Amino acid sequence: MEVKVKVAAEAGNIARTGGPAIAVNLYSGVKQPAGATKAVDQALGGIISRAIGSGDFKCELEEVYVLYPTGKGAPERVILLGLGKKEKFDAEAARRVGGVLVNTLRKLKVMRAATVVHGGDSGKNLGDLARGLTEGVLMGAYRYDNHFRDGRNGGFPLQTVTIVEQDKGKLRTIKAGVELGRSVAESVNEARELANGPSNLCTPSHIARTAERLGKEYGFKVTVLDRKECEREGMGAFLGVAKGSDEPCKFIVMEYKGRQPKGTVCLVGKGITFDTGGISIKPADQMDQMKFDMGGGAAVIGTLRFAAERELPLHVIGLVPATENMPGGHAYKPGDILESSAGVTIEVLNTDAEGRLILCDALAYAARYKPDAVVDIATLTGAVIIALGHHTAGVMGNDEWMIDQLSEAGYRSGERVWPLPLWTEYREQVKSDVADIKNTAGRPGGSITAGAFLGAFTNGYRWAHLDIAGTMNVERARAYQAIGGTGAGVRVLAEFLNTWKKPSGKGPEPGRRTSLGPVRETPASKAARRPERTPAKVKADRGRR
Ligand code: BES
Ligand code: MN
Ligand code: ZN
Repeated sequence: MEVKVKVAAEAGNIARTGGPAIAVNLYSGVKQPAGATKAVDQALGGIISRAIGSGDFKCELEEVYVLYPTGKGAPERVILLGLGKKEKFDAEAARRVGGVLVNTLRKLKVMRAATVVHGGDSGKNLGDLARGLTEGVLMGAYRYDNHFRDGRNGGFPLQTVTIVEQDKGKLRTIKAGVELGRSVAESVNEARELANGPSNLCTPSHIARTAERLGKEYGFKVTVLDRKECEREGMGAFLGVAKGSDEPCKFIVMEYKGRQPKGTVCLVGKGITFDTGGISIKPADQMDQMKFDMGGGAAVIGTLRFAAERELPLHVIGLVPATENMPGGHAYKPGDILESSAGVTIEVLNTDAEGRLILCDALAYAARYKPDAVVDIATLTGAVIIALGHHTAGVMGNDEWMIDQLSEAGYRSGERVWPLPLWTEYREQVKSDVADIKNTAGRPGGSITAGAFLGAFTNGYRWAHLDIAGTMNVERARAYQAIGGTGAGVRVLAEFLNTWKKPSGKGPEPGRRTSLGPVRETPASKAARRPERTPAKVKADRGRR
């Protein structure tokens, strides 16, 4: 459910702040409190020094301790937050501290709390730390609790967390950080709400309606293509997947146009609302998790919301092909040959490799915007979990600059991405004996061959692909991440857009390349640029081949 908590920043002295709770902090290994914590300690008769002296509180990152001071004007509670080592403290640590703080406030059932910018003396950028803290609080406050009849997750009265800063000169920086963090976190939570929705409620139509609602609220245009219109676009791959489902498919197009745009970026998100595997059906165990298979689409919608709310000086297009992947009398089958909108024929070897099929039509669609960059994001392969685990997404692409930008944005946003090689050799693996390309290439390098498949539809523009199969949800709660959908991708994409600069061509030395090589035009990308693809025209093209 939507988070109602507000993060505020104001001038004041935390040592003179009362109320239900204040939160201060300690680095590990310190013998004496410093800064704001020292002031609070002195005002409250050495209560924090005694806690340190007891040795009970190790001050590790994510550790928390609650003290109950006495005295006139004292707050009811002092929450001591461990920050870990001072040298290691950064925006991501601040995010975790924010998550721990809000989880503690939830347990204590308090309505408001005052705190400081944790790690303000760590030498790191104050705005980044305030942003991290805000993101941690607001992401940490989110729960998917719409369906509890007994209010099991209710009783969370927290309304405001106020950051108190004594130095008025710093307040502007802090407020800017809070505002950016709020926009990021709310966009992430919006994506989580979509991702967590079960497939009987979160249908392609529901996703389309959500995009339309957000478009109205934040100011971006939303157009939804139904099956007929997708047929007119010649999207044989997307429609091939959709055929097995009774739930109507939707191809969602979102367009945000900022003032004096400094570039055009297309974001493409996989929107499989439930992935049974189709005729190549998945095992029953954990199949429920496949409700998260629209996580990439949710991330794209969340990022459009961010771009529009922040009024970024960019032209941002979001494309979300949305459908279920179902077995059934009308379902596509292994051995089928589909023709994508780019005119490329695809041999289907496994109907469970459906993500790349719906994405390839969207990647072809993206070419019409003549984008400076295209990023697709998808819960694409189980293999990326084997390769990288659950702590990072995989990134691949045809352009070193893109991969570098996303890696950097990932690091700064606390949502890391890690490159996998996409050398041309991997392309050999997706060649088919009966069509232009096939949709699976065996187990070796499964995430990379999926990337190589997508790469065949992206020539002509700079492109990167994020595989978020390992990060789309968590099965155990983390500091600011409750069990369930994480909104994976929103933070890294928001950061990528927020710090956008015009692409430069210079990458690392050739020997270290991870990408498919330089952007170039191919028949597929030229076909994708065709302004209109009427059925008659598609037929004529077929004749030519
Ligand atoms: N949605 C899955 C990938 C996935 C698996 C996401 C586990 C999250 C957790 C995707 O559509 C899929 O089924 N991929 C297959 C591809 C294979 C058939 C080539 C896979 O990874 O097994
Ligand atoms: Mn699948
Ligand atoms: Zn899937």
